[in-house]
Amino acid sequence: MSTIRFDKVYKQFEGMARPAVNGVSLSAETGQFIVLLGPSGCGKTTLMKMVNRLHDPDAGEIFIDDQPISQMDVTALRRQIGYVIQQIGLFPHMTVADNIAIVPRLLKWDDAKISQRTDELLEMMALPPDEYRDRYPAQMSGGQRQRVGVARALAGNPGVILMDEPFGAIDAITRTDLQDSLLELQRRLKKTILFVTHDVDEALRLADKIVILREGAVVQYDTPLQILTHSADEFVRQLIGADDIVRQLSLLRVESVMQPPNGQTNVTIGRDQNLREALSLLLSSAENRIAVTDSNQHVIGQLTFDELRRAIAR
Ligand SMILES: Nc1ncnc2c1ncn2[C@@H]1O[C@H](COP(=O)(O)OP(=O)(O)OP(=O)(O)O)[C@@H](O)[C@H]1O
Ligand SMILES: [Mg+2]
Repeated sequence: MSTIRFDKVYKQFEGMARPAVNGVSLSAETGQFIVLLGPSGCGKTTLMKMVNRLHDPDAGEIFIDDQPISQMDVTALRRQIGYVIQQIGLFPHMTVADNIAIVPRLLKWDDAKISQRTDELLEMMALPPDEYRDRYPAQMSGGQRQRVGVARALAGNPGVILMDEPFGAIDAITRTDLQDSLLELQRRLKKTILFVTHDVDEALRLADKIVILREGAVVQYDTPLQILTHSADEFVRQLIGADDIVRQLSLLRVESVMQPPNGQTNVTIGRDQNLREALSLLLSSAENRIAVTDSNQHVIGQLTFDELRRAIAR
């Protein structure tokens, strides 16, 4: 279990006119995928870096599992936290397997356990171990390197994962793939994730809840659906493009609005597909409901026009 709580956190860098982080209070429950979203310079990275104490707040406190992190040993704290950044920083002279094994080695796991863990993580990230284990970062694509970066962050089995624009430099198609892998992984592992992006589509797609930051302060903290349909103010509405209904439908995952299954239908849609795809399916089939399935084709919910209407109603 790993909850994270920010309590009135402030941070002002020397020589700056205003605080980079200005009185942030919020909490993340165990297993939640929280996305920090906001324009460049609004304090996303600074807020995140205070969690693993790359920066310390001027005032306020951050708690992990109700323990104040200012009282913890920094090394011990960082071992409980996986960290992925944009320019992933794999060690170029180390193989993929050795890069992933860094934290397990620090934790003094035995070799058999480390190599089993490494292969398991490579498999999870859709990198067949036999093919990738012994490669060097230079022998892989950018998207594959990011997958190794995610695997490395997970290696020591931390409860908390911090991801700072991990897919920022990746092309749109690979990026969608990586997002899908991450969602699938998160369903299995239930880590508490803080994920920074300034890509609105990415935020709406991945988040259980989104923190919208402006000038170091939280403007809104809510589910993607609530943020789209009940934006806190004009700034939020503009930031996420909430006035465009088709866009709105294309950004919301089916899963976020589905209802429990209730009746028969021959039409199915995956939980990670979007509401715009759901709308096309409803319109082009003779059915008035579609079944929502998980990756094993089990029915986990359903959608009707009502859910779609509710999703875009103000
Ligand atoms: N080490 C530092 N020293 C001084 N000022 C800093 C430092 N790091 C960040 N800042 C300032 O703090 C503010 C917030 O920066 P931060 O990096 O947290 O923004 P961000 O939301 O992550 O932006 P981006 O989307 O561009 O990455 C900015 O005004 C930035 O210039
Ligand atoms: Mg940043």
